[in-house]
Amino acid sequence: MKFFLDTANIEEIKRINALGLVDGVTTNPTLIAKENLPFKEVIVDICREVKGPVSAEVVGLTYEEMVSEAREVAAWADNVVVKIPMTEAGLKAVHTLSQEGIKTNVTLIFTVAQGLMAAKAGATYISPFLGRLDDIGADGLQLVADLKEVMDIYGFSTEIIAASIRHLPHLEGSALAGADIATVPGSIFPKLWSHPLTDRGIDSFLADWEKYQSEQK
Ligand code: E4P
Repeated sequence: MKFFLDTANIEEIKRINALGLVDGVTTNPTLIAKENLPFKEVIVDICREVKGPVSAEVVGLTYEEMVSEAREVAAWADNVVVKIPMTEAGLKAVHTLSQEGIKTNVTLIFTVAQGLMAAKAGATYISPFLGRLDDIGADGLQLVADLKEVMDIYGFSTEIIAASIRHLPHLEGSALAGADIATVPGSIFPKLWSHPLTDRGIDSFLADWEKYQSEQK
């Protein structure tokens, strides 16, 4: 399973990338706005830091706007992936862009049908939003499992990015469901390697070691 960082904050990206854990990055207009810097500058900086795919989202809603923005954004770096919202115009844009060799990530996927349409249109990635589904009482993890089954049955090469991850069970459930990628916010990433029993174990080992050292004197 690959791990993407779901943030536009370059310091957060550098810190976790230094651990060798970042296979890519996803951003969205909300995350970009938090940085309060020009869009292009943020994306170019991230693309320099991370060699894997970096998603940058279009904001136009018409087919023409999406395609034009996508071509511009895709030219900023070789590893840019253009994030396109799941609409009729979005599907048409994905179809055009895939024929031009521009990689796309279709975002805001909430049903199997949406994922299937995006894959069929030529999406490189699809992003089911687990957390936002759970917020309305639906089952985000079930959607990931169902999408995985459908992608496998029909042999699509489109990769599933489990997105809108809010906690560790979302991540572990996505791994078990066979998501190709999980995109994880910086605040959740440390939970992937930490556990209170690990910390307690280190403390007790060190305490015993110090006792043993003082007894040796
Ligand atoms: C990822 O591509 C999405 O932009 C992100 O995971 C959305 O997460 P949220 O629902 O926590 O805003």
